[in-house]
Amino acid sequence: MNEATKAIIKATAPVLKEHGEAITSEMYKVLFSKYPETQALFKDASPDQHKKLAAAVYAYAANIDKLENLSKGIEQMATVHVKTKVQPEHYPMVGDALLQAIKTVLGDGATDEVMAAWEEAYGFLADVLIAKEKELYAL
Ligand code: HEM
Repeated sequence: MNEATKAIIKATAPVLKEHGEAITSEMYKVLFSKYPETQALFKDASPDQHKKLAAAVYAYAANIDKLENLSKGIEQMATVHVKTKVQPEHYPMVGDALLQAIKTVLGDGATDEVMAAWEEAYGFLADVLIAKEKELYAL
């Protein structure tokens, strides 16, 4: 991820914090309607699951230039994902839904530049989680 991408992500972090829950509620709506096969994975999810995802997205944006601060959170997310049998092929589905939700909620703020930065940043985080989960599945 280059510095320009990181700068855009950091600049949009406060907006994400403000609209975090709206973005993740919208994300689940898009995810479950476009990719209904993902719904079963969330069968035991707590009703405040969207708050956890919102907090994680914000923490990621705020720490994009010091990702080592997130290692405990990444470990925790990967552990829960493995318990609920999340697979690498689910990541593009969540990515598609998340980007669509960011676009809807940010409205005019979702310029092509902002969307491209978020696409890259999501892909980066997805790769980190997929690698960690691969390790845990192999145990
Ligand atoms: C970069 C992408 C993702 C982020 C940032 C993320 C974040 C999180 C967080 C913070 C939690 C809560 C962990 C906890 O309870 O401590 C969680 C749980 C979960 N995530 Fe993800 N996640 C991502 C991708 C995915 C994907 C691709 C799927 C599959 C569709 C998925 C499905 C789930 C499920 C099923 C749970 C457990 C819900 C429950 O039973 O409570 N996540 N995720």
